[in-house]
Amino acid sequence: METSIDMEIYKINILDKSEVLAVSLCQKDEYRELDVERILSAKELTTYKGYQHRKKKVDFLLGRSMAKCAIDKLSACENFAEIEITNSVFGAPIVIGDNMANLGVSISHSNEYATAVSYHRNFPCAIDTEVIRPKCEKAMRSLLECNEASIIKGYNELNILTVMWTAKEAASKVLNIGFTVDTKIFEVDKIQKSSDCLIGSYRYLKGFQFVSQKIGNSILTVASPIVNNKHMFVEQFKLMSIK
Ligand SMILES: CC(C)(COP(=O)(O)OP(=O)(O)OC[C@H]1O[C@@H](n2cnc3c(N)ncnc32)[C@H](O)[C@@H]1OP(=O)(O)O)[C@@H](O)C(=O)NCCC(=O)NCCS
Repeated sequence: METSIDMEIYKINILDKSEVLAVSLCQKDEYRELDVERILSAKELTTYKGYQHRKKKVDFLLGRSMAKCAIDKLSACENFAEIEITNSVFGAPIVIGDNMANLGVSISHSNEYATAVSYHRNFPCAIDTEVIRPKCEKAMRSLLECNEASIIKGYNELNILTVMWTAKEAASKVLNIGFTVDTKIFEVDKIQKSSDCLIGSYRYLKGFQFVSQKIGNSILTVASPIVNNKHMFVEQFKLMSIK
């Protein structure tokens, strides 16, 4: 489906599997362009209209739009209004639509961007996006575990703290539980530079990696399963380098 959103979309192949996941993102100033009735299901439209605050409306609409654009890349759905994204009791997005039982989606909103990743359920992924903000530095630092404090040395502090934060949120989303648990379980184990990305692993979530990129003044991080020790984004997802 064509939308009037100016967005970037990446369809990513992993090893011999094709079309395993798709990432979409757009800037929030695209909000005014959208035709809500073509994008939202009837139930979503009711939710959207019920929001009083503009920020809630923007997040909901652009988040759903990006999610459906990513889903479209994996399922070639003609009509976005026929896809419904509802939320679990813990807030996790659930895709409802014909022939979509095998698809999952993850959504994130920063003040600059709406982003989403759609994936096949046998390859669970999650996305998180945060603006790099000096006023959050203290709070992000206070959540560092002992080992994490040594990992961040040598990087621009604000950037790397934001990377760590998004890595934890993405991990919480990939498990569908959010921050309902002690955040220690999302502890970051290692981070390494690879091309323009940072790739990291988790101390306790051994089956997952994350990759972080800078987009505008935000950090975008995707958590995904480790496949043969490789991460898929390095060649295919080039945005801005994190120093
Ligand atoms: C998941 C969580 C870390 C997201 O944090 P955030 O930085 O505030 O928000 P983001 O913009 O990055 O992500 C928002 C999206 O995360 C997704 N999300 C929310 N909870 C999720 C969960 N448990 N698992 C996976 N994804 C989740 C939703 O799709 C949401 O967008 P939507 O509401 O438009 O569908 C946070 O919402 C959380 O910890 N939730 C669980 C705790 C909880 O239930 N809080 C509610 C108390 S009232």
